[in-house]
Amino acid sequence: MKKKLKSNKISFIPVSKPHINYQDIKSVQNVLKKGWISSDGPEVEIFEKMFSKKINRKYSIAVSNGTAALEIAIKSLNLKKNDEVIIPNFTIISNAISVIKQNAKPVLIDCDLDTWNMKIEDIQKKITKKTKALIVTHIYSFSNDMDKILKICKKNKIFLIEDAAEVIGLKYKDRACGSFGDLSTFSFYANKQITTGEGGMISTNNPKLRDKCRELRNLCFGKKNRFNHDDLGWNYRMTNIQAALGISQLNRLSSIVKRKIYIGRYYYKKLKNDENFKILQPNLKFSKNIYWVVGILINNKRMLASEAMKKLKAQGIGARPFFWPMNEQNIFKKFNLFTNEKYPNSHYLSRYGFYIPSYLKIKNSEMDYIIKSIKKLF
Ligand SMILES: Cc1ncc(COP(=O)(O)O)c(C=O)c1O
Repeated sequence: MKKKLKSNKISFIPVSKPHINYQDIKSVQNVLKKGWISSDGPEVEIFEKMFSKKINRKYSIAVSNGTAALEIAIKSLNLKKNDEVIIPNFTIISNAISVIKQNAKPVLIDCDLDTWNMKIEDIQKKITKKTKALIVTHIYSFSNDMDKILKICKKNKIFLIEDAAEVIGLKYKDRACGSFGDLSTFSFYANKQITTGEGGMISTNNPKLRDKCRELRNLCFGKKNRFNHDDLGWNYRMTNIQAALGISQLNRLSSIVKRKIYIGRYYYKKLKNDENFKILQPNLKFSKNIYWVVGILINNKRMLASEAMKKLKAQGIGARPFFWPMNEQNIFKKFNLFTNEKYPNSHYLSRYGFYIPSYLKIKNSEMDYIIKSIKKLF
């Protein structure tokens, strides 16, 4: 098969590839021709409105990436020094950065080995008088149990930030993920369900938070005197070119999600019975996995993910490691954060988890080759 791949001039199957079609190109060309290229063009607002409608929220604020969305969301809460924000330990560093940059303290929760999301049963134990918010991150497109999360936030009167970067198009029960947070954030990086190259979104139903997020995205220009500023903001604006691409991509979200589900289930059917590793199931009680990525978790320390990925690479297959836990980040050790804290499940996932190619145009023959190669690893 590898030879065949070579003879077809497909020397390598990458882990991810953006899907850009004719409509996307037309949409971008259109705004380029009109000259609306930075953030002031009409497409940004159109994209925001379409996005809100898609996930059934009142307001959306387009920004330059998913990390910027989180930074703005956290800053909009007006946290005080040493206020605490609960976040997953197994996640992207953007969750922790957004808290630390506001001089607040991230408090970590280990993940569940069956869902790879944060262990909901551990949250209440970590809530103190200083806890002001919780970031819930849907990891690798597997939904958290939002009824339980909402109950905890309500009971403790804390804000909910929903990091929905990886779950555009996913539902919890019959409601869109990303419609639960006081503020929810999204990413449109090239490997996401829909892309704007780089890009992000914040969604909310709260007009005060909406206004604050809009100001923070745009340098907090003065209301009376534009160049006399009342707060420290950022230039985290989305360009009209990006928004034009976003509109076109969002228009076909349902077919993208359908294809992702097909790919995830194809792998699942053929890999689920192998006792050497685990692949997340397609159906939960409350949600359907849309397989943003297809993760593989090696069982019983049979082989390190780094070794497995090296072997797959030698066979022309791209793979990516799982997240590295927050409590084990070099940079946070320098800040004396999380010293002596232990999170065994995140530790395990970071050493034994990786994900495999699942871009929209992947062929069944390529998936068959990948499946065979993974099985042969053990
Ligand atoms: C869960 C999660 N949150 C936030 C981000 C940050 O998004 P961005 O790369 O657009 O800054 C990512 C990035 O992939 C992510 O996976």
